[in-house]
Amino acid sequence: MDKVARTAKLTPAALLSQFALEVSAGLAKPGQKELPSKYLYDSVGSALFEVICALPEYGLTRTEEHLLQLHAREIVDQLPRPVVVAELGSGTGRKTRLLLEALSRWQSTWYHPIEISPSALAVLRRELRDINSISIVGFEREYLDGLREVAARRSPGEHLLVLFLGSTIGNFDGSAGSDFLCNLRQMLQAGDSLLLGTDMLKPRQTLISAYDDPIGVTAAFNLNLLARINRELGADFQLQQFEHLAVFNERTRSVEMHLRSRSRQKVAVPEASISIHFEKDETIWTESSHKYSQDELISLARHAGFRPEAQWMDHSWGFAENLWIAQ
Ligand code: TRP
Repeated sequence: MDKVARTAKLTPAALLSQFALEVSAGLAKPGQKELPSKYLYDSVGSALFEVICALPEYGLTRTEEHLLQLHAREIVDQLPRPVVVAELGSGTGRKTRLLLEALSRWQSTWYHPIEISPSALAVLRRELRDINSISIVGFEREYLDGLREVAARRSPGEHLLVLFLGSTIGNFDGSAGSDFLCNLRQMLQAGDSLLLGTDMLKPRQTLISAYDDPIGVTAAFNLNLLARINRELGADFQLQQFEHLAVFNERTRSVEMHLRSRSRQKVAVPEASISIHFEKDETIWTESSHKYSQDELISLARHAGFRPEAQWMDHSWGFAENLWIAQ
């Protein structure tokens, strides 16, 4: 079958001003300053994240890949067919490949990665183009906007499988993860499925090493966000004046990533029309990574209108692949 590779795009100018707006809103916020974590993944950030995934301390990605190596066939064999696949945040495609190959035993498949990073979409298209009977049409969109488009294009009788891997759901803060799943469910029909990867609660020290590795790749990944603001918005962050910080918040069961100012300083971001003051030790919160318990997963599924259908668990790292069916 022909491989189609098209991308629906926002113009670069619209994307830039969106970035500038969100940076200025986050840094000018009273109290805890913050930056949206989706901007960690420009081409430098995506490359660094790849290295994080290869670190011995960061078991998450490796474990999920292993789970899919073991169980991809069993997972796809539980799905109604024909099925169209949409993926939220595409990664490099290594995990997706395992599922698409298992599906290609049964049917030819439309695969729609939804991803705001054009470089990640391009990598993915290259990586997956050799799989038989897969047609790739990517969407350079926010997750739910992209999913709305995919859902609108489906033909009668086609089921939707949404992949949301890598425990990215844990990067939504507080009740936002649960709200997101409810909104996602609204775009599905009863009988559609969601394959959700979730990193499970584990000892604090294991988590801290995973998010603050001894050779400093994670620190570079986090600091790259400031470097990106320098590159794209003309800011003058002195990178040596900030350091990466990972702390485990017992109350929210989340690892919080911050960038801490080493001194009292001022930074200008001309393209966002702001200048920001930092106290010594003041932090910018960049991302939280929530860790799940079994009970919590079941109530999340039910609350959002899904039936938890099956689960594949790796106990040595603590990671679950969850198959939920829209009710
Ligand atoms: N989504 C990844 C996670 O929660 C991202 C990540 C890994 C990350 N290490 C980080 C984000 C360090 C910010 C800083 O596991």
